[in-house]
Amino acid sequence: MTTGFDPAGSRVLITGATGGLGEALARAFAAAGADLLLSGRDRSRLTALAESLGGAGRTVAIVNADLSREDDLASLVAAARDFQIDVLVNNAGALAFGLYEDQSWPDIARLLETNLAAPMRLTGALLPWLRTRPRAAIVNVGSTFGSLPFPGFAGYSASKAGLRGFSRALRRELADSAITVVHVAPRAIATPLNPPAVDALNRALRSHVDLPEAAARGIVAALRAGCGLRHLGFPERLFAWLDGVAPAVIDRALAGKLATIRRFARPIDTRKETS
Ligand SMILES: NC(=O)c1ccc[n+]([C@@H]2O[C@H](COP(=O)([O-])OP(=O)(O)OC[C@H]3O[C@@H](n4cnc5c(N)ncnc54)[C@H](OP(=O)(O)O)[C@@H]3O)[C@@H](O)[C@H]2O)c1
Repeated sequence: MTTGFDPAGSRVLITGATGGLGEALARAFAAAGADLLLSGRDRSRLTALAESLGGAGRTVAIVNADLSREDDLASLVAAARDFQIDVLVNNAGALAFGLYEDQSWPDIARLLETNLAAPMRLTGALLPWLRTRPRAAIVNVGSTFGSLPFPGFAGYSASKAGLRGFSRALRRELADSAITVVHVAPRAIATPLNPPAVDALNRALRSHVDLPEAAARGIVAALRAGCGLRHLGFPERLFAWLDGVAPAVIDRALAGKLATIRRFARPIDTRKETS
């Protein structure tokens, strides 16, 4: 059976380390005593982060990679093997907010590629390596919307629900191995992922918005506990569970919020016409 994983002394690859949650995760894993391989697209931000975290006997390396590029994925896999990782944190992600009928397929395809296909490909490519480690872990960063699909976030919800399904199946497949698979679903976090319209919607709906540091602590705690699936935050955890057992209750609650969601999800010109 898979169990908890103590990150102290481990070697951790974090994707999306240049982002709001990724940087907080890097700091949380460093504080937990891990060596870090930080990945992202923005080399100058990666370098600055590595410089701020290096020293004190800790190794911090960086690898520049765009997860939508075949050759970058291959270099990332090679760098992860060279670094001898034992923890893969699939954190990089993208968001497209808006009514589905207003969104273009390239936007949706980008979401599926970044949030679902890239973590699946990276995991598949690194599994043979992780199997050689005495203990290893894969941490997938999902979202509440992966269990509580939300209007205005259809493509994003689909990508995160897909990632949740992948994490759960893989955990069951690896149950008799030394690899722990953990899926963590944060609620809203104050990071650049959310455009101003989403920030405004969160205020209008009085949604809880966590600081990245709090979400990062929750993710490291879920790894330590070896949770198969952990939703961060209450009552979001309850709503996610309720959507599984009594979806009509959530349908009714969200139908009551639809006019508000539409107001923020519509493109500006349409919003003017309907206001
Ligand atoms: N913020 C929230 O409300 C929230 C809530 C629940 C879950 N999450 C999840 O938390 C994770 C981190 O998001 P965040 O809030 O920290 O967002 P963020 O600040 O926008 O950071 C996203 C990170 O992903 C990277 N990334 C995006 N596309 C990439 C690509 N094609 N190749 C390589 N890297 C790519 C970005 O790199 P660049 O900096 O180079 O663009 C950045 O480092 C995501 O999986 C997100 O879905 C966020």
